Amino acid sequence: MDGNGRWAAARGVPVAEGHRAGARALRRTVEAAIDLGVESLAVYAFSTENWARPPDEVESIMELMDETIERELPDLAKQGVRTRFFGRRDRVPQALLEKMSRLEGETAHSDRLSLWIAFDYGSRAEIVDAARRLLEDGVRPQDMSEEAVAARLYAPELPDPDLVIRTSGEQRISNFLLWQSAYSELVFDETLWPDFGEERLRAALEEYEQRARRYGAR
Ligand code: IPE
Ligand code: MG
Repeated sequence: MDGNGRWAAARGVPVAEGHRAGARALRRTVEAAIDLGVESLAVYAFSTENWARPPDEVESIMELMDETIERELPDLAKQGVRTRFFGRRDRVPQALLEKMSRLEGETAHSDRLSLWIAFDYGSRAEIVDAARRLLEDGVRPQDMSEEAVAARLYAPELPDPDLVIRTSGEQRISNFLLWQSAYSELVFDETLWPDFGEERLRAALEEYEQRARRYGAR
């Protein structure tokens, strides 16, 4: 979900306003995804690298996540959205972590769309943490497998994405789902995230439909 900062700068408003508009775009996009029959949607909300931003911006993102859990996500839950968070759990404020797990519990039985929110997430950290768990679990070298690694990622139930959409015109992955997106189709959209919604999601899905997926086979 990239482009909140540039969206705000273009309007001469504080960056926090851009993130707020980004949260509205998330809600629109989730509702559009439900209408389009998407079953699983993962979004990159806050990365392990985003802590390097100015403290007041980081604080505004933490507050916004809190507000989104309080106001937007319960509404989406009524529409059948099950929300789960994944990422590091040792740096996010405790009160926010508690709200995250409460919402996960409350929406555990919704099954129209699974919404996965990457928060304090980085793929390299995830893979290092998985390696640590493999050692802690005493997995022997001969028992090492792709399944053994995948089972120790932050969200083992998260399906490998068919399609990854990056907004705002940047063409890079930025430490998102490196393991899981090994064979994902990539779509780069010029739209700044706060302007994203049904029309752009539909366009990305149409582009996806044109792709031939061979997974390295003939
Ligand atoms: C994405 O928008 C939101 C987060 C990373 C939290 P940015 O804030 O990265 O927007 P730009 O890249 O500055 O436009
Ligand atoms: Mg950015």
